[in-house]
Amino acid sequence: MAYLSEATRKPVTVATLAKMKAAGEKFTVLTTYDASFATLLSRCGVDVILVGDSLGMVLQGHDSTLPVSIDDMVYHVACVQRGNETTLIMADLPFMGTATIEQCLQWSGRLMAAGAHMVKIEGGGWLADTVRALKRCGIPVCAHLGLTPQSVNAFGGYRVQGRDDAQAQAIIADAKALEAAGADVLLFECIPRALTKRIMAEVHIPVIGIGAAPECDGQVLVLHDILGVSPGKPARFVKNFLAGRTDGVEGAVRAYVAAVKDGSFPAAEHCFE
Ligand code: KIV
Repeated sequence: MAYLSEATRKPVTVATLAKMKAAGEKFTVLTTYDASFATLLSRCGVDVILVGDSLGMVLQGHDSTLPVSIDDMVYHVACVQRGNETTLIMADLPFMGTATIEQCLQWSGRLMAAGAHMVKIEGGGWLADTVRALKRCGIPVCAHLGLTPQSVNAFGGYRVQGRDDAQAQAIIADAKALEAAGADVLLFECIPRALTKRIMAEVHIPVIGIGAAPECDGQVLVLHDILGVSPGKPARFVKNFLAGRTDGVEGAVRAYVAAVKDGSFPAAEHCFE
């Protein structure tokens, strides 16, 4: 089967993701932080590269994403941009990037100038004005909801969010407010599958999941997790696509792409009921 992004070999844009959602084609997202992997992922048909602040954990060895600076992010976005071919580059706004709208615009401008095609911000409906301000500047936005790792201290650990009704209602309201403010994409991390399905029925923009549900329009994982080289015990939503293969890193990336596209990843064991 020829996938939309592969068949055209045209650069993937935010509009492509909306088209893929409308066509019922799942899209693939993987984190990457350097030029060599950016080329490999692009050639393997990964639709979106996330230059995630997870680099603080998998590259820098910190135990959270909080120490990652905007200078770190700009450096890695520029590296990825040099290696990228046709993949859409999404860049994380690091910790404190949404403290004020001015800060967010200034930092986002730096990420876009370095080669990002869209920014990802962590937070809920209180960021509606921030999303509007980014959109006025022509910056596409992905809003990250649920377990937002920059708020790990407020959550008291990396815990599934939205398990009780009040939390679930709040996440639904946040998703709708961010969509209404103009967010182009939503990303749900570690929320129950049933809640994910409820929100999916109420929003119209593409939704990316990680520890959410196979019903999401796209899936994201951290590159080091799919290659089994991340430090520590893997989270429930992680699958090592390199384990047991004989065709190496490229084979693992291609297997991830194929599994997301054909709906076999994530399986029930990677989600929270
Ligand atoms: O920084 C990151 O890699 C992320 C993903 C885990 C979604 O935000």
